[in-house]
Amino acid sequence: MSTPTRKLAVVNMKGGVGKTTTAIHIAAGLALRGKRVLLIDADPQGNVGHTLQLHARHTFEEWMTGEAPLEAVVIREVRERLDVVVSTPAAFSLERRLAGETQRETILARRLQKELPAGQSYDAVVIDTSPAMNLLTYNALLFAEELVVPVGMDLMAVIGARQTLSGVVQVRELWPDRKLELLAVLPTFVHNTNHATRATLEALERDPEIARHVFRPGIRQCIDLNYATASHQTIWEYAPRSRAADDYTALIDYIDFGHSVAEHTKGDRDAANKRSETPPREENIARSA
Ligand SMILES: Nc1ncnc2c1ncn2[C@@H]1O[C@H](COP(=O)(O)OP(=O)(O)OP(=O)(O)O)[C@@H](O)[C@H]1O
Ligand SMILES: [Mg+2]
Repeated sequence: MSTPTRKLAVVNMKGGVGKTTTAIHIAAGLALRGKRVLLIDADPQGNVGHTLQLHARHTFEEWMTGEAPLEAVVIREVRERLDVVVSTPAAFSLERRLAGETQRETILARRLQKELPAGQSYDAVVIDTSPAMNLLTYNALLFAEELVVPVGMDLMAVIGARQTLSGVVQVRELWPDRKLELLAVLPTFVHNTNHATRATLEALERDPEIARHVFRPGIRQCIDLNYATASHQTIWEYAPRSRAADDYTALIDYIDFGHSVAEHTKGDRDAANKRSETPPREENIARSA
């Protein structure tokens, strides 16, 4: 019997917190574990395509308006078992072009339901979103059942996370029958000896809505992630022994095995804290010097 498709979205209204990096690594990480994955870029900045160096004849924007079928916009086997739909700045016009559509917040969900061929279904669909609660982000929220909210280590990112969660509450009120679970609030750019990191983690732990969802230790600050992006690779391809590779592997373990954040944090906190204190690898220092 086939298992249902996991539907994940990576969201935070704040820009530059690691959404695209996280969406790519969740998608690529699940594909490495043998899952069939579709990664959709719902952000007109098109950073998924830039990062993975993908070029498509037809893009997300044409799919959302119905000008091209999913079949034409999917780039197959970007990595083994990983398919991708890329976006371009043309998708900025969707807000205006879809304004007259009925139920325009559910276009993405309805199109996927209609167009995913039954025999070729995915184990997981992962959506990257814009740093805004716009129509496309609402489309992602009305498709997804599980959310990952990356939070960079500054207080503005916490505010962005809170605003994003208000949007989630709104969705739950308007569509009470939908499953929409906060899978993880993911600290990113974590630097444990740094005051900003400590202050941000404390703010997350103090917030009653957020605290029980915080995935510790999160993703540590790691220059290898910048190099991986610049060389169009995942961290497991570029620097498999780096701290970011360890941290994203821990996130994939959590997502794949379905533990609660509390279980993960309890079992892993000591080891994780030790890992967080690990000094940067020598080659990282050499590269960043
Ligand atoms: N843990 C990290 N350590 C160091 N660099 C990182 C880390 N996570 C992401 N980066 C780098 O930070 C930059 C911004 O990350 P990313 O594009 O994923 O953010 P974003 O939230 O998607 O931004 P936007 O809101 O503009 O879409 C990228 O160059 C990425 O390589
Ligand atoms: Mg992005």
